Amino acid sequence: ADALKIGIAGLGTVGASLAKILVERRDMLATTCGRPIEIAAVTARSKGRDRGVDLSAAEWFDDPVALAREAKIDVFVELMGGAGDPAHAAVKAALSRGVHVVTANKALLAAHGVELAGIAEENGCILNYEAAVAGGIPVIKALRESLTGNTISRVYGIMNGTCNYILTKMEKEGLSFEACLKEAQRLGYAEADPAFDIEGNDTAHKLSILTTLAFGTKISADNIYLEGITNISIDDIRAAADLGYRIKLLGVAQKTDTGVEQRVHPTMVPLDSVIAQVDGVTNAVAIESDILGELLMVGPGAGGNATASAVLGDIADIAKSRPGAQTVPALGRPAASLIPYKRAQ
Ligand code: NDP
Ligand code: HSE
Repeated sequence: ADALKIGIAGLGTVGASLAKILVERRDMLATTCGRPIEIAAVTARSKGRDRGVDLSAAEWFDDPVALAREAKIDVFVELMGGAGDPAHAAVKAALSRGVHVVTANKALLAAHGVELAGIAEENGCILNYEAAVAGGIPVIKALRESLTGNTISRVYGIMNGTCNYILTKMEKEGLSFEACLKEAQRLGYAEADPAFDIEGNDTAHKLSILTTLAFGTKISADNIYLEGITNISIDDIRAAADLGYRIKLLGVAQKTDTGVEQRVHPTMVPLDSVIAQVDGVTNAVAIESDILGELLMVGPGAGGNATASAVLGDIADIAKSRPGAQTVPALGRPAASLIPYKRAQ
């Protein structure tokens, strides 16, 4: 069968990990997907940088939007980050000409997800973004596909690996906030601007996507009560432990009689709860629904390989799909049917 040709925009922590896996597991993936996956085009800011993988067979583009518009590809894989251009313009350009898109960019989806889902649907494209929420945990698939037919009442959890890593290291190793953040950056967990992590915006972006999938409301990241972990000290962590609690940065979305409540803030969780035991870069997402009951998913929430695993799964889904086959709407239901977000009173 013909190879699935992909273009990768962004060869940093996630993009380089993905490229390595695609090269090293080419044969295995060809068997699993029924056809090879070929890296046909790539772009990043700096052309000369060693990415730890031979990409000389792929066409180089200086401009991500030009890659999205012109490269001979079936799938555009956006791993640059940022809510604005070039990520926004490039994803739009790809979808508008019928090229499927896979992205890990929650900031982009929080700002433009409804628009992009609409363009994907108009053009019969797949828009996959499993890696955008909780790294390698398949929470998008759970909400978008597996739980179809359930009425969901609450989604909550630890959705930022950097913050959970910092809180864990501060407690267990007595290190300073700044030292823990530096280490999280070195390990490739943090956003390009780590303020997004520690001030809670990244969790808010992820929560807004989960809210839309769970409750069918338009994405609304601006309506989230937001408090990050920058004011948490070792003394706070120790005081919480003395009282039988651990401090975790949680994102919570729940349905009430008056709308949907969304909030992100440090929370004291009882030491004997499962969430309290989730340490380091690990994330946990709980979904409460009426048919299934409570689902709790725990797993690696950030880092090159964990994130690349989810991106790869999204690409493999496209490789296995057949043109014209029914695809899942990007936001779980047709974008035009999403209802306006109503903040709970
Ligand atoms: P990095 O900063 O490590 O990599 C970003 C890549 O994009 C780099 O290769 C950079 O080029 C390239 N790039 C940035 N801006 C441009 C531009 N204007 N034109 C062309 N290329 C550009 O980020 P990550 O790999 O960590 O993250 C990528 C995406 O994945 C982000 O949306 C992030 O939020 C998301 N994500 C990250 C996770 C993680 O654990 N790291 C987990 C889940 C999601 P160059 O290398 O030349 O500078
Ligand atoms: N910076 C993010 C985090 C990456 O630490 O969770 C994964 O989305």
